[in-house]
Amino acid sequence: MKVSPSLLSADFACLRPDIDMINNSEADYLHLDVMDGVFVPNISFGFPVMQAVARQCSRPLDVHLMIVNPDKWINQVRDLGAEIMNVHQEACPQLHSVVQRIHAAGMKAGVTINPATPVNTLVDIVEDVDLVLIMSVNPGFGGQKFIPHAVEKVRQLRNLIDSTGSKALIEVDGGVNLSTGAELAKAGADILVAGSFVFGAEDPAATIKKLKELK
Ligand code: DX5
Ligand code: ZN
Repeated sequence: MKVSPSLLSADFACLRPDIDMINNSEADYLHLDVMDGVFVPNISFGFPVMQAVARQCSRPLDVHLMIVNPDKWINQVRDLGAEIMNVHQEACPQLHSVVQRIHAAGMKAGVTINPATPVNTLVDIVEDVDLVLIMSVNPGFGGQKFIPHAVEKVRQLRNLIDSTGSKALIEVDGGVNLSTGAELAKAGADILVAGSFVFGAEDPAATIKKLKELK
């Protein structure tokens, strides 16, 4: 299993030790949650903070934009050196065009779906994307309860990907811990995002390692 710890649950008054922990852990990515107070009912952090984090972090950045018009920020996300740019399907009326532009900027394109957005809405885009991010909570806050239906959505997405030429990875975000993570792993998830479960743990690096062992 690949693990993408979410910085949203780190100590914003003192990020350096948390980034050092990520750098010294087995984390595969660092997940950065950008919120605009419009697409979701919360505001997190923006480019100045992410630039500072990017300078210190040795892991590829997995940027999750919970914002309207995410295509306006493709160049800025590229300039961070991000590996993956995740945009919400619900925020992009011209999703195909946005995916092409993320690729043209040299990044991997991820498409994210909210809990109420069906997997079958991805039929016409799944072969064009590098990753699909399934939200297992309503986006906007860390520490929420896992929505169990996400496991069925991962199964459906695995079938959709396997029945096409798609090479998309399946990432899941929200309420991930060892028990929900084990179910998601069995259903076919490739990457787990975990915020409060990692940063709230007594030993965050050991918790990342345990999530990585799920299969
Ligand atoms: C929620 C964010 C998540 C969040 C997950 O809107 O997209 O990445 O940090 O937090 P946990 O793992 O605590 O549910
Ligand atoms: Zn996220």
